[in-house]
Formats: sequence, C-alpha cells, structure tokens
Amino acid sequence: MAKITYIEHNGTEHVVEVANGLTVMEGARDNGIPGIDADCGGACACSTCHAYVHPDWVDRLPAKEEMEEDMLDFAYETDPARSRLTCQLKVSDALDGLVVNLPERQI
Ligand code: FES
Repeated sequence: MAKITYIEHNGTEHVVEVANGLTVMEGARDNGIPGIDADCGGACACSTCHAYVHPDWVDRLPAKEEMEEDMLDFAYETDPARSRLTCQLKVSDALDGLVVNLPERQI
C-alpha cells in the first residue's frame, strides 16, 4: 500500500491509498482523479497517462523501459527528467509518499 498524491494542473491535490500491484495510473482511475485518461487501459500504447514525477522521486523509481520512452514522444509537453507514463509505474510500499503532477492536458 502506498499513499500517493496526485496534483491536478490547477493545483487540486488528491491523496489516496493505492494497493500494491496496481499501477499509479490505476490508482488515479479507480479514484476518479481527473487528468489521467489512460485510453489504452495500461498497455503502454497511448501516452494519455502521462504525469510529471516530483523531482525528489525521479531517481527513486525504476528506469523507463524503451517502450515507455518511445511512447512518451507522443505525450503533451514532456519533461525529459520528470515525465513518466503512470501505467508503467507499479505500486509497492517503496512508492509510499510518491507525488505526481498531472499535465495541463493529455495529448
Ligand atoms: Fe496508455 Fe499508459 S494507459 S500508455
């Protein structure tokens, strides 16, 4: 279980507990948090689950796989250091306290 803070582009914060094994995308989707569309359902095939990881967390997450890296090319206003596809981030206790900022829009 990890407590994850999702911050919408307008500054609205959502702090939710997400079960281990789910993804950061699923944590947003299952809690009705706006700003993550996840059109492909988590298959790393749409880029609409894009979010910016808080700078403190960038180095604490597993590195991007090539598929995520490629798909991020299609995301809206990416930040090379902070952008991730949240469907590729598996939740575990290690992610407790994670903070992600949601982009102004997806694509
Ligand atoms: Fe489609 Fe993440 S949900 S790439």
